[in-house]
Amino acid sequence: MKKITIIGAGNVGAHAAVSAATLELGHVVLLDQNSDLAKGKAIDITQSMALIQSDSIVTGTGDYQDTADSDIVVITAGVSRKPGMSRDDLLFINASILESIVKQVVEYSPQCILIIVTNPVNTMVQLVYEVSGFPKERVIGMAGILDGGRFKYFIARELNVGASEVVTMVLGDHGELMVPLEDHCQVNGQPIAELLSRECIEDIVRRVQHAGSEIVNLLKTGSAYFAPGRAVIQMVKAILRDEHRTLPCAVYLDGEYGVKGTFVGVPAVLGINGVEKVIEIHLTEKEASAFEQSVEHICARTIELNKKRSLN
Ligand code: 2OP
Repeated sequence: MKKITIIGAGNVGAHAAVSAATLELGHVVLLDQNSDLAKGKAIDITQSMALIQSDSIVTGTGDYQDTADSDIVVITAGVSRKPGMSRDDLLFINASILESIVKQVVEYSPQCILIIVTNPVNTMVQLVYEVSGFPKERVIGMAGILDGGRFKYFIARELNVGASEVVTMVLGDHGELMVPLEDHCQVNGQPIAELLSRECIEDIVRRVQHAGSEIVNLLKTGSAYFAPGRAVIQMVKAILRDEHRTLPCAVYLDGEYGVKGTFVGVPAVLGINGVEKVIEIHLTEKEASAFEQSVEHICARTIELNKKRSLN
């Protein structure tokens, strides 16, 4: 049976555990430094599985030994933002949290695939790649699936169609400089430019870029968790079931899109070994310019973090 460890039993981690258990992807280990929190939620989730005739088991723990030999480790641990904060405001505190987590993961699951949810995710996944020493195929960030899902939601609501009818793609940084690809977005094969006014499309793009903050401002105590929890499990499923599925993920670019050495949200094929291939899609001039801006932002944050780490 496959083994999936989810680190962080907060809202995102718990909902990821529910999604993984519901899909019966494998044995789920939910780890948190607050072991009772992890144990309580794990029992509750497992008992909920009995109600849907699922044999999935979720084990809660505070001990990394229980995570040993995981196939996939999903890291959701860290501080979430409050109203008025950007994801980048979490850079230093979450970097120090993840640095210690990754060292434990590497010790107990040296062959696992690491998927990072913790924000700011593009910089966090870069940090995890460097600290873990894992090959680039086995370190991935979750972002574009969540942002693309929001893009679908806003367009579906505007056109009064099912979200499943909408095809979207969001690239770049998981932040306000993310790049929802308007010119690639279609509804039942029709470009949205033929269905919505320019003003409406621009308004929707802005809402996608600020959708995370919209929820933070409503919740006031943290950020979204239903959609992030479910989004990351789409990646876990694509990997464990070897789906060779193309999903927008924060992956290491080694020259693709003219970028080298940075984790950027782009379409990537996921299979049993992690990232199988980066898909280079043609970007319009406007999309390419926004993508370049987004990449520059990621690089600047990474430089800022490395400066801080070198001082420690
Ligand atoms: C979001 O966009 C938490 O970054 C996540 O909601």
